[in-house]
Amino acid sequence: MVLNDQEVEVFPDSKALTLAAARRIALLANSAVQDHGVFAVALSGGSTPSALYRLMATDETIRSKMPWRNIHFFFGDERHVGPEHKESNFRMANEAMFQALGTKDLHIHRILAELTSASEAAEQYEADLREFFGPRGLLAEGLPRFDLILLGMGPDGHTASLFPNSSGLRETARWVIANWVEKFKTDRITVTFPVLNSAAEVIVLVAGEEKAPIVTKALNREAGDYPIQAVRPIHGIKRWMLDASAAAGIRTLASEAHPR
Ligand code: 6PG
Repeated sequence: MVLNDQEVEVFPDSKALTLAAARRIALLANSAVQDHGVFAVALSGGSTPSALYRLMATDETIRSKMPWRNIHFFFGDERHVGPEHKESNFRMANEAMFQALGTKDLHIHRILAELTSASEAAEQYEADLREFFGPRGLLAEGLPRFDLILLGMGPDGHTASLFPNSSGLRETARWVIANWVEKFKTDRITVTFPVLNSAAEVIVLVAGEEKAPIVTKALNREAGDYPIQAVRPIHGIKRWMLDASAAAGIRTLASEAHPR
C-alpha cells in the first residue's frame, strides 16, 4: 500500500519480514550489477537487521542469488567504538554475515570508529565514499547515489544516527558527520540527509509491537516531526517493510488513505 506517498509493506511476522527483505535486496543487487557493475549498499545497525544479515549469508535460496563479489558494503552509521566492541554495528554485521561468507572476497567499507576523534572518522569515511562513488560516476547532483540504504528506526523516530534535536539534522553539505547524541552523551558517526535522500532506494526495516506507536506517528504526516520523516529520496523510493506487530497502528491511516 502507499501511505503519504511512501511504499508500506506489512508481513505477518518477523520471519516473513526478514525473508521478504532478503529477497528485495537480492533483486536490487542483481539489477544494480547488471546496470552499472556494482551494488553499493549501506547497512543499518541496531538489533533489527541482524536476522536479515544472517539469513542472507546462510539461506541457500538467497545466498546463491547474491552477486557477492560485486557488492560494496558500507554503513549508514556507527557508534564511536572499535570493531570488537559489543556496541559496534560493524561487529554485528561481521558476526551475522561477513564471517559466514568469508571476508576475503568481500568489499567492506568500515567506518574507522576506533579513532579518538569521531570527526576524523567521519572525514575519513566521507573520503572513502568520494573515492568509491566519484570515479564510478555514481553521483546524483554531486551526491553519492547508493543503490540501497537500509535503515532502522528508534522509538523516538531517529534513523541512522540522526536523533531528534541533534545538530546533524541541519547538515546540508557534508556526506558524513560526527553527531553528538545528548541522551547517550556520545558522538555517533552517521551519513547525513543529503546522502539518504540521494539513494535509489531506502528500506526502513521495523519489527516489534514496541515500535507500533512511532511507526503510526511517522507515517501520519500530521504527527510531529521525526527524523525518519525527513528521509524522502528525491529520485528514489522509500519503502517501509514492517511486521504486523510494528504495523498494528496504521490500519486507521490505511483505511483513511484507501477508503473502500
Ligand atoms: C544504530 C542504528 C539505529 C537503529 C535504531 C533501531 O546504530 O543504532 O543505526 O538507527 O537502526 O536505533 O535500533 P533497533 O533495531 O535495535 O531497534
